[in-house]
Amino acid sequence: MAEAKFSELFIIKMSTNGKKQVLFTTCLSNNFSNITLSKTFVIEVPMIYLLPFILLSFLSCRPETGPLRFKDKSIVFKETKLEVDEEDNHHLEYLENLKKDYESDLNKLSINAVKSFEPIKKIMKRKCFDCHDSREKLPIYGRVFPRINPVKKHQDEGLVALDMAKTYPLQAKGNPPQLALLKAIKAAVLDKTMPLKSYLVVYPLKRISKKNQVAILAWVDPLIREHERIDEAYQELFFQDSLQGKVQNLFKKKCLRCHGSGNNRGNFGDMEKLSELLQRKKYVDLEEPTRSLIYKVSLSGEMPTDPREKLSEEELQLMLDWIQEARNLEE
Ligand code: HEC
Ligand code: HEC
Repeated sequence: MAEAKFSELFIIKMSTNGKKQVLFTTCLSNNFSNITLSKTFVIEVPMIYLLPFILLSFLSCRPETGPLRFKDKSIVFKETKLEVDEEDNHHLEYLENLKKDYESDLNKLSINAVKSFEPIKKIMKRKCFDCHDSREKLPIYGRVFPRINPVKKHQDEGLVALDMAKTYPLQAKGNPPQLALLKAIKAAVLDKTMPLKSYLVVYPLKRISKKNQVAILAWVDPLIREHERIDEAYQELFFQDSLQGKVQNLFKKKCLRCHGSGNNRGNFGDMEKLSELLQRKKYVDLEEPTRSLIYKVSLSGEMPTDPREKLSEEELQLMLDWIQEARNLEE
């Protein structure tokens, strides 16, 4: 908190006839919330004469350091102690670690990819790097008339789509996901859409041969599979950690035995598909989550039928949070 002290105050106004009017005021009170103007002069002068005054006023009007005292009680800032929930902390740590593990797994994949790239580097260098390697210097005919030069244009556009200056992780404009780039390479090589047709007219030998195709696919295919495997594994872990995942586990533990997988006691229906359950207004009230029947019967202890299985307070809260989240997502 700092105490503001204003010795002088200048107010510069534009008058209706366009001349600058300056209102000199001196303020006596040193209270922020209650400035009283003791003297007022109005004179008209060109702006340029005022500059030294304005500068001076800025210097003199600088708030002094020290605690700022507001008279108005309503704007006194209360110090609130941030209570850090131990459990939340653990949870954040868990998520952080999960993310780190994910990145480290992808990193390992990268290292393998660079190794397995070695044997096909020669092919790629000959057939792709002309347009996909930012280190590659264009031949002289590619550098003249850069604005209309088709060779330069191909390289420019090729680099936007994929820059293989660094083998892996692959680069492209906008940093698309690795998996998308790997799949694009696979498609380009499989369909032989690359190298560009117009280029092959001039350089027919740069066409991708069957052997090249097999070699490149042998590099890219396992990478795609491994990347997908890693993604799926972590998606599963992140899902289990989400509200949806937790609610699904709760239902699995306490409700699905009687309300899922074809077991439909009381004709209440299937609780397995969460998204479908949310649509059923009789059981889930998005407007007023506490009025949802699935919540009410769990709160009262009617469900599950075995009282020993009764939902704990945390489990009940989880159900409410999940409905609330669904409602927020719908909005
Ligand atoms: C003559 C220049 C040239 C050569 C040689 C070339 N490309 Fe391309 N490549 C391009 C251009 C230009 C684009 C952008 C095309 C577009 O945006 O539609 C591109 C786009 C791509 C893309 C992205 C496609 C997409 O859907 O985003 C991939 C993958 C690709 N090239 C792979 C290769 C591979 C693999 C080789 C070698 C076998 C190769 N390219 C050789 C010019 C070239
Ligand atoms: C041991 C079997 C069993 C378990 C476990 C169980 N239920 Fe039920 N549930 C039933 C039966 C039986 C009925 C039909 C009761 C009736 O008609 O009186 C029913 C009916 C319902 C109804 C419909 C009530 C109505 O008035 O239409 C809801 C909602 C419900 N259960 C929610 C749950 C929830 C939520 C869980 C888990 C927290 C759960 N049930 C666990 C057996 C079970």
